Amino acid sequence: MGSRSGFLVVAALALASAACSSGRHSASAFHLPPDGDVERGKTAFVALGCNECHEVSGADLPRPTVQPPVPVTLGGVLDTRLSDAYLVTSIVYPSYDLAPHPKAQIANGGQSRMPHDYAGRMTVRQLTDIVAFLQSRYIVPRLPESYR
Ligand code: HEC
Repeated sequence: MGSRSGFLVVAALALASAACSSGRHSASAFHLPPDGDVERGKTAFVALGCNECHEVSGADLPRPTVQPPVPVTLGGVLDTRLSDAYLVTSIVYPSYDLAPHPKAQIANGGQSRMPHDYAGRMTVRQLTDIVAFLQSRYIVPRLPESYR
């Protein structure tokens, strides 16, 4: 093995172990408790008014009312699963990383149009259940082996 490919193997191993690590210094150490409940999450989603701006793919919820409409439908088909960490950040710190949509429709003065005070208005129970509810509405198709 040449030194260049040796280096690549070492780099790949280092990356793989960083991705799998759940140590104290790793972003992947973030985990919600496993008892998030989809039905309670759906109830909390409506109780907190999330449905006033968001449609959720495949969920039977009161329709959004906000004007101008927010073009960010939650759930639906994705290439890769969203992490719980991304969803939690999107809810408690919406302007950290804006959803991939035209800024003019989702932000005002660079800040997300989403309320920024949910951290003080929801319990960790509600947050955990809402994440379980949203995760249940995302579909990541499993391609047959030959397409991967
Ligand atoms: C006033 C309208 C409004 C309300 C109410 C609202 N959102 Fe949002 N939300 C937005 C906008 C606009 C965005 C896109 C900008 C951003 O990423 O913050 C967004 C983005 C998101 C995203 C990121 C989606 C992606 O594909 O990246 C999630 C998840 C989300 N909202 C969940 C919620 C939840 C859960 C609630 C209720 C607790 C809620 N939202 C309430 C307007 C709203």
